[in-house]
Amino acid sequence: KRLVVLVSGSGTNLQALLDAIATIGVDAYGAEIVAVGADRGDIEGLARAERAGLPTFVCRVKDFGTREEWDTALAEAVSAHEPDLVVSAGFMKIVGKEFLARFGGRFVNTHPALLPSFPGAHGVRDALAYGARVTGCTVHFVDDGVDTGPIIAQGVVEIRDEDDESALHERIKEVERRLLVEVVGRLARNGYRIEGRKVVIQ
Ligand code: GRF
Repeated sequence: KRLVVLVSGSGTNLQALLDAIATIGVDAYGAEIVAVGADRGDIEGLARAERAGLPTFVCRVKDFGTREEWDTALAEAVSAHEPDLVVSAGFMKIVGKEFLARFGGRFVNTHPALLPSFPGAHGVRDALAYGARVTGCTVHFVDDGVDTGPIIAQGVVEIRDEDDESALHERIKEVERRLLVEVVGRLARNGYRIEGRKVVIQ
């Protein structure tokens, strides 16, 4: 299976996928990353892709007249690589109708909180501020909401009294990277069905 991964930052989730596939091998893992895209240039995530010899593309919202034009351009850039599955690994933009028309049902996102709790761009900070005792990460299919699509898998992380946002986020990312590698591999190898809010992996 062909994966396109979308990033916006450090790309450690991308790196986890790259390392797993390099270690296990494309055939055993069931997928290979064919391209990496971003909504901004000059980020570590793109540098990681380049170091791995992968094609990259950048679609900046500000380069387009409207949000819809950006959404279509992103969908075109991803389509060019003919992915079976698109993975948002820290991609910090909400995609629109055109992107979902083409990739809905095969577009996976990882979020650093236990959805439906704490959706949006500050899930780690919000869980901490709320005084939650556990949080975690969620891998889900993207739908037309924000972090509202059918959940595939979740991992739990304890919140410690001494945690600040970055310490907690780093601990979540340790779980998140393993969860994403495991889920993407299973989706690619086994195939899956989405039945309402339920995801059934064969
Ligand atoms: C991940 O925790 C992701 O869930 C969140 O931002 C982080 C991205 O980390 N949206 P990286 O870019 O994969 O290192």
